[in-house]
Amino acid sequence: MEKTKIILDCDPGHDDAVAITLAANSPCIDLLGITVVAGNQTLENTRRNALNVVQWLGVDVPVYAGCGRPMIREKITAGDIHGATGLDGPVFPELKRKLEPEHAVDYIIRTLLASQGDITMVTTGPMTNLAMAMRMEPRIVEKIRRIVLMGGSYTNGNVTPAAEFNIIADADAAYVCFTSGRPITMIGLDVTRKVLCYPEIVERMGRVGNRASRLFVDLMAHFCKTQKEVFGWEGGPLHDPVTIAYLIDPGVITTKPMNTQIDIRSVQSYGRTNCDFFGYLHLSPTADVAIDIDADRFWDIVEAGLRNYG
Ligand code: RIB
Ligand code: CA
Repeated sequence: MEKTKIILDCDPGHDDAVAITLAANSPCIDLLGITVVAGNQTLENTRRNALNVVQWLGVDVPVYAGCGRPMIREKITAGDIHGATGLDGPVFPELKRKLEPEHAVDYIIRTLLASQGDITMVTTGPMTNLAMAMRMEPRIVEKIRRIVLMGGSYTNGNVTPAAEFNIIADADAAYVCFTSGRPITMIGLDVTRKVLCYPEIVERMGRVGNRASRLFVDLMAHFCKTQKEVFGWEGGPLHDPVTIAYLIDPGVITTKPMNTQIDIRSVQSYGRTNCDFFGYLHLSPTADVAIDIDADRFWDIVEAGLRNYG
């Protein structure tokens, strides 16, 4: 089966780290490169976290550092969830892996321009790097096969009642991406909140008993603790890996085409993904919005992903 070529743009971040784990050794995915952005933590933290994850997993995937702040608004981070390092919990050996010298935005532009239009851009953090690439080199837009993002919500947010973190952290970047005209799959809180990593799930993944499973357990020990502290949930919603699970097995989620617009103008609802679920506006759909997920099938994909590490 032909592998899906992707660039994974992320802000590790505990759930980003699991997304990297699922993508890096999947027989279905060709992970061309990891580009890192400020989001859950500062760029200095997220880029180091990405290197620690690929080094721990022993995967030969280049890592590129990108934008250290949003396009226009002030930077926000999520240390309450991911800790001061952005990946609190796991203890990694001395970091020897190095970043690629090329800026992530330049890498995205160069790689997409040289491609046959067969690369999927997966974003699991603020969309700054991709939006900056589109603005710097508009010729890449038609080269993007599809944008698959973790972000947004057609119901409630997780930073404000209206907005989800990846979108509100750089709503202007999301606006650039959602008005690009490229096919979009939006995987929002509406479905990621249905895959809560309960203790029995952590125990199940721990029984895989390899490097990837040990990383998963150590990541979830912190992630689930802070999610309980902040949101009161017994298990942390495993947001970002749903993007990769969808690429491995598209039937794991149900999507509905909707006209989706990013609110960059209002104050109260700034950063909201306004998804026209019922078609009130009679406008063309701009995104395939995830409206449901088969949680059992998702956890099977996660376990299989961990087992790809021997
Ligand atoms: O709102 C959840 C998203 O914001 C996830 O991608 C998480 O890693 C943070 O980036
Ligand atoms: Ca993320």
